[in-house]
Amino acid sequence: MPLINIILTPAEFEYYNISTNDNIIVVIDIFRATSTIVTALANGAKSVIPVSSIDEARRLKANGFLVAGEKNGIPLDGFDFGNSPLDFLNIEKIKNKDIAITTTNGTQAIQVAKNKGEILIGSFLNHDAVAEYILNQNKNVILLCAGWKNKFNLEDFVFAGSLTHYLYSTKKFELDSDSALLGYLTFDRSRRKLKEFLNMASHKKRLENLNLEADIDFCLSINKYSVVPKLINDKIILG
Ligand code: MLT
Repeated sequence: MPLINIILTPAEFEYYNISTNDNIIVVIDIFRATSTIVTALANGAKSVIPVSSIDEARRLKANGFLVAGEKNGIPLDGFDFGNSPLDFLNIEKIKNKDIAITTTNGTQAIQVAKNKGEILIGSFLNHDAVAEYILNQNKNVILLCAGWKNKFNLEDFVFAGSLTHYLYSTKKFELDSDSALLGYLTFDRSRRKLKEFLNMASHKKRLENLNLEADIDFCLSINKYSVVPKLINDKIILG
């Protein structure tokens, strides 16, 4: 039976001895990178190109790419967009365009997972679409939380717990670690009061200090899009 693992931060990835690339890896950065990537693609962007440095993004901008990103939650000078999913709602500017993105944690987590399996982009916005896709693959699942600067964060873990709960409840998967077990239990106990449960989350506070409450609400809306973004070579596209 395929196994479920939750990896709490990108720094832990190497300890999971992921030898084969016959895995599905869901990269998770609820506030806000993966929510933003899902929103951009669901609203017509052709691809999103995750890059690990601001300089790399600037080089792509010089070559005519649209660029998005933030550092510590704050938009970057000269970029077309910040890292708010609200920047990508229904705008002509992104239709059929390639958008490069660099963020503090989310795009770094994608780099860590590269070549270690089939990489999907997960968020509450496309929760069931990702879960249903995984159900049809019969592969081990690794839920990689982006965290904050390689420290644990609650919202990514609760989302990983929610996917674990969905998959494990089908009795077609086994939990392969205590982090997966705790994820399952945590979601089971918080599912009816998710927003309340995440109220004390550190990055939520960080975003509130930047007056980004609207982003938080948007990132916590469930199943707004039925898309399953995948990393194919260096581009994230819709499967
Ligand atoms: C990240 O990738 O670190 C986050 O998405 C930061 C943010 O809130 O923009």
